[in-house]
Amino acid sequence: MSVRPATVVVVDDEREMVEVLRDVLQSAGYHVISAGSGAEALECVQREEPDLLISDLRMAEMGGHQLQMELKRLAPSLPVIIITAFGSIQSAVESMKLGAVDYITKPFANDELLFVVGRALENRQLRQEVKRLRTELARSYGLPNIITASPKMLAVIEMVEQVADCAASVLITGESGTGKDLLAHGLHFLSSRRDGPFVPINCAALPENLIESELFGYVKGAFTDARQSKTGLFAAANGGTLFLDEIGDMPLALQAKLLRTIEDKRVRPLGATEETPVNVRVVAATNSDLEKAVGEGKFRSDLYYRLATMTIAVPPVRERPEDIPLLVKHFLSRASAEAGKPAPEVEPEAMTYLMRYGWPGNVRELQSAVHRALILCRGSKLQLKDLPPRVVDGRTSGLNGLEEAVARRMSLERLETEYVRAVLESVNGNKTEAAAILRIDRKTLYRKLEGSQTNAAFASDDTN
Ligand SMILES: Nc1ncnc2c1ncn2[C@@H]1O[C@H](COP(=O)(O)OP(=O)(O)O)[C@@H](O)[C@H]1O
Ligand SMILES: [Mg+2]
Repeated sequence: MSVRPATVVVVDDEREMVEVLRDVLQSAGYHVISAGSGAEALECVQREEPDLLISDLRMAEMGGHQLQMELKRLAPSLPVIIITAFGSIQSAVESMKLGAVDYITKPFANDELLFVVGRALENRQLRQEVKRLRTELARSYGLPNIITASPKMLAVIEMVEQVADCAASVLITGESGTGKDLLAHGLHFLSSRRDGPFVPINCAALPENLIESELFGYVKGAFTDARQSKTGLFAAANGGTLFLDEIGDMPLALQAKLLRTIEDKRVRPLGATEETPVNVRVVAATNSDLEKAVGEGKFRSDLYYRLATMTIAVPPVRERPEDIPLLVKHFLSRASAEAGKPAPEVEPEAMTYLMRYGWPGNVRELQSAVHRALILCRGSKLQLKDLPPRVVDGRTSGLNGLEEAVARRMSLERLETEYVRAVLESVNGNKTEAAAILRIDRKTLYRKLEGSQTNAAFASDDTN
């Protein structure tokens, strides 16, 4: 923890008052910055990142309450102590309602001032410590709900951790079911906004006119059915994250308004004359090719570039086969626990098919296949017959092996591994024979099998 003296900003338009405060605080070892007006104080706060602010309530230009409100937006975690005149307890109450951590009445004794300041700073330090520990906890668990062992996915998670705390919008791209929702939640959880709201909206699930009123809200009488006003999701997400899911389905007509709201950080409900400031971090997700949509004039390029400053591309399951056994076990044990029974083991043959299948619906499809299998499973082992027909038929779907490899966009390395395995299987796991067919030596064969992290799932009796 830092040992630098705490920095305190004192604000008053009366010079003498500022000087008294400064003298007392300085002699107690604090670093004091004095400001002669609310405006000057706001500047100091932005420049110096102080630990505490003490302000008189009554000032000519910007009063203490107004300063408090500005500070709430600018530096929400900065503790504020208000100085009020003796006997004006009502204004002290007002100040506390606005979030002041304490108040002092004039005239005050020096040690009273120091006591109140000391307590406020101690509180702040405790709060920061809690925040730090929370962040550490979140980081040490990484993204706790995301099961993966794939280097590609681990890189994605690292990226999420890196961008979590920046203010810029983030675009998460990837096929349906790859975990975009999960990552958007993780992004929020790892950011300093984690205590604020996480507000999702699925643009594909709502008709065009509803998206607008949901997002921006409306005032009473804005349209025929608007019998009372309604807070929009932008405003509801204030201090937190707004998750625009399926952003590719955002109507073109609304995109300009969305962009303006993001850029100006101000939202105007339908039918309202005034805009209200909002402090929202936007995370968008899409499973469509937005760049292509931009090219075709279906998506505004300015909005695209705004959102895509940070893009996180989530790989499909077929590009991370090493995750399949992990995900299968994870979903099996979770579903079994929910059903109150022990998780069955997966027969190697069944696992072979699970790993071979292309999973066009990605993790979501895998999850439901596992649930289905668990329901059908009799006994302690999950067998081939428990799997959905499409998973088992994968190889007999009319495509030959190479066509299937092409359809699945298989990498050369994976194709090679699959071929090596298939040959090995065809000779009942006899490695000498398999090596002979492949015209490689046994050492190379071992290496090729080891090279695939998925090896374990295919392990046959190692009798040769
Ligand atoms: N890596 C993962 N580990 C555990 N569960 C996952 C993982 N990826 C996705 N899921 C689960 O799969 C389902 C689909 O994920 P989701 O985030 O909704 O995908 P998307 O938004 O990309 O369509 C959810 O139930 C989610 O919890
Ligand atoms: Mg989703």
